[in-house]
Amino acid sequence: MSEPKGTLLVVEDDPGLQKQLRWSFDAYEVLIANDREQALAHLRRREPAVVTLDLGLPPDADGTSEGFATLEQILGLAPDTKVIVVTGQHDRVNAVKAIGMGAYDFYHKPFEPDLLGLVVERAMRLHDLQLENRRLRTKQASTPLQGIITSDAEMTKLCRTIEKVAPSSASVLLLGESGTGKELLARAVHQLSSRAAKRFVAINCAAIPDNLLESELFGYEKGAFTGAAKQTKGKIEYADGGTLFLDEVGDLPLPLQAKLLRFLQERVLERVGGRQEIEVDVRIVSATHQDLANLIKTDRFREDLYYRLSEIAVHIPPIRDRQGDAALLAHAFLEKFGREMSRSLRGFTAEAIAAIEAHPWPGNVRELENCIKRAAIMAESNQITLADLGLKVTEPEIGPLNLRQVREEAERKAVVRALGRAGGNVMQAAELLGVSRPTLYDLINRYGIR
Ligand SMILES: Nc1ncnc2c1ncn2[C@@H]1O[C@H](COP(=O)(O)OP(=O)(O)O)[C@@H](O)[C@H]1O
Ligand SMILES: [Mg+2]
Repeated sequence: MSEPKGTLLVVEDDPGLQKQLRWSFDAYEVLIANDREQALAHLRRREPAVVTLDLGLPPDADGTSEGFATLEQILGLAPDTKVIVVTGQHDRVNAVKAIGMGAYDFYHKPFEPDLLGLVVERAMRLHDLQLENRRLRTKQASTPLQGIITSDAEMTKLCRTIEKVAPSSASVLLLGESGTGKELLARAVHQLSSRAAKRFVAINCAAIPDNLLESELFGYEKGAFTGAAKQTKGKIEYADGGTLFLDEVGDLPLPLQAKLLRFLQERVLERVGGRQEIEVDVRIVSATHQDLANLIKTDRFREDLYYRLSEIAVHIPPIRDRQGDAALLAHAFLEKFGREMSRSLRGFTAEAIAAIEAHPWPGNVRELENCIKRAAIMAESNQITLADLGLKVTEPEIGPLNLRQVREEAERKAVVRALGRAGGNVMQAAELLGVSRPTLYDLINRYGIR
């Protein structure tokens, strides 16, 4: 991969030095300026990443006034440009003054290509990182839903879907691994609906013991059971006019599934121990990390309830399947925590970003957010390093070495791919694989493919 060359502007009035610098920086695109006017002309036209600036410029070649005036104008025009001030041998005072004005670094003559080369290279890298940071930030600003950060095409499409369905009263089922943003999207559905001014009531079906869940959802009348001291509304009634978020709905016990289904069909409920039918108008959004199709197959989830809950079903991809999201989210969280902790945190080292991109993030955005938070606290400098993240750099998986396992794995993959390509048509898939239909059925059974 050939990267575009960085642009270096050399402001130097000595023709001999000009030549030498051009020659020793041939890795960059080098622009040369003899004086302030030429320097500013180049700057406006080309926005070089890095400038080396000789302080002794004509008409004040033996002093520094023209050099400082040039520095000031460069920084005014292009504050992102990294200016390396080149001074006389023992000229500390002016070097310090230049840094104070906003120069990136200084370099004392005489000119040594290797040394100056290192300073320039570092400046180039910093400049690129800052550009990258800015690019990520603007990208984040153009996200289709407020508070949801993504650059992934599928996620963006999904946000559009949410925008479209939010104003309707359709039930929305959000499917995705833990930490993928299900609750965040559920709130977005509410906020973008005409119910936004009313309540958003969330209940986590997995977190409440089965025997309490019914009264939590439906409420109870005084004396309905021991401890029912007074009439109490349930979450459903509480959400009247608004949105009810049933989190981890896959964990809802079967008897309650039946009761919830009845409510969804008739839109009236009875509190526990009550007789009176109460009409409630709620929009249902539910979520689960479980494989509902599998729960239905094994009779742990009612199919009819599934259809009621999933008028719109949305699959949220895990981070590892999203393009560029890990780095984007990491930058966004770093900025957020930096702000909260009043620390000026300037991004990540290249190594740290590479590790963030390579990590599989089984806990998705929640895990990533916690990791960055910890790093923001631990970081000793204003740039997050690999060590601050505490991530293990995982070796690419080698997989099994046992030949039988390798063969079986390859076989299973080939069958899945062939079936995929044939759109599930077994006859066609068998043809693609060069086996008979019965053989393919055998393979499908052996590997439990559906
Ligand atoms: N795309 C995203 N952009 C910004 N923050 C996100 C995003 N997705 C998730 N989060 C944050 O990650 C955390 C976990 O999200 P949450 O919605 O609770 O996930 P889930 O309900 O799927 O477990 C929350 O703090 C949430 O604000
Ligand atoms: Mg959640």
